[in-house]
Amino acid sequence: YIPNSIYGDKIFELRAFKVGDGLGIITSDITERIASEKELKLSRDIAQAFLMSDDEDLFDEILRIILDNTKSKYGVFGYIDENGANVVPSMSRHIWNECQVSDKKTVFPCREWGESSWPTALREKRTIVINEASKLTPKGHVTIERHISMPLIYEDEVVGLFQVANTEDVYDEKQVRTLQDIALRVAPFLYGRLQRSRAEHARDSALVQIETLNEDLESKVESRTKELKDAQEELSRKERLAALGQLSASVGHELRNPLGAIKNGIYFLKMVLDHPEPDVLETLTILDQEIENSEEIIRSLLDFTKPKEPVLQKINLNDTITAALERIEVPLNISVKTEFSSILPVLLGDSHQLERVFTNLITNAYQAMTNEGILSLVTTVEDNGDVIAIVSDTGVGISKENLAKLFQPLFTTKARGIGLGLSIVESLIEAHGGSIKVDSEEGKGTSFRVIFPSQKTGR
Ligand SMILES: Nc1ncnc2c1ncn2[C@@H]1O[C@H](COP(=O)(O)OP(=O)(O)OP(=O)(O)O)[C@@H](O)[C@H]1O
Ligand SMILES: [Mg+2]
Repeated sequence: YIPNSIYGDKIFELRAFKVGDGLGIITSDITERIASEKELKLSRDIAQAFLMSDDEDLFDEILRIILDNTKSKYGVFGYIDENGANVVPSMSRHIWNECQVSDKKTVFPCREWGESSWPTALREKRTIVINEASKLTPKGHVTIERHISMPLIYEDEVVGLFQVANTEDVYDEKQVRTLQDIALRVAPFLYGRLQRSRAEHARDSALVQIETLNEDLESKVESRTKELKDAQEELSRKERLAALGQLSASVGHELRNPLGAIKNGIYFLKMVLDHPEPDVLETLTILDQEIENSEEIIRSLLDFTKPKEPVLQKINLNDTITAALERIEVPLNISVKTEFSSILPVLLGDSHQLERVFTNLITNAYQAMTNEGILSLVTTVEDNGDVIAIVSDTGVGISKENLAKLFQPLFTTKARGIGLGLSIVESLIEAHGGSIKVDSEEGKGTSFRVIFPSQKTGR
């Protein structure tokens, strides 16, 4: 066995064999063969590195290849991410261990690149070889005696960075060429890998977008469904009201006549009984009162089901509320506070109907304050010209459940209530183009807010 011999740049293979008594020797120049074997191995190593599943392994392996082939002590292998940042998953372990830079980074966003050789190499797409100690390394960084910074380029796009540093000797053309060889092989793999991760990224963000759109759609469907349901409920409420209207109008009429007859009968009895026994007189009085109550109920029903067109006059809401207040006796232990705006615009409204609105609200307020309390009546003008009247009490308040049913006809929680008061209030206010809102807290009190929009006010 004769080992290969090196003469200058050439490598020779010597083969000896026996010829007769002597020795024959064949010398062949195998420089090329060795070189292509080396290249083949390099290509295979690189391809194998890219087949590795783990990113960290991949970058470590390529870094090992460039350090070995350039006989460098330190090195860095980075890639350019979709935001243009230089990401270095891998720095030679020596650097990590010896480097004393306070915050060791692996991601270098474009705007923080600075002016040292690697950013210049990336920006100008050229290899930079410096055979003297670097003065631009940050404080605490390992000393860089000499180094090469080489951009990895594929189809004119910078896809990554090789940096090797600190060979024993200077970096010469041969090492640059070796590094370039590796760069040429690595660049397409790196490019493919980056494209793939970009595509994955795009797909992920598209998925997120679709998800948000979906959620959006769902909530739209939900709110439309609710609107539809509300509209349906409103419609069936109106239908029920119409039916109730017809029924009560006819019942009311039918009842009016017999009631009238009973009333006349009582009147007659009172006349003919000269000195009735006290309990007979009491019974007659009770009958009278109950007929009065019945007539009131019929009036309410008819008012509600067949509301008269409001007769519009110029009115002052403060006067209307005062008139309503005076109509009803203030119960014991209840005090009344008023806070009327002195600059209320004149309102076009039906004074009788609006008085009815406030007597109903005030009656409810009194009834809600069983022991004692304060009824407060406020009028104001909003900046936009709306006229507001607020009727509030410190009574029992209304449960959440009941709040929703408040304005439904025949909804009542009272033993002797009909449950038409608020229905009448609402329809009268709506006939005036206004609206009513309620705010209540159980055990604390209730506040009704009547709003007359400014266009309905005459100034
Ligand atoms: N100020 C208030 N505080 C507490 N609950 C109230 C108040 N106003 C109304 N309510 C509740 O709303 C229900 C309906 O009121 P509404 O005025 O329509 O009917 P009612 O007072 O029960 O009977 P009526 O037809 O005699 O007025 C009441 O039974 C009561 O439960
Ligand atoms: Mg009432």
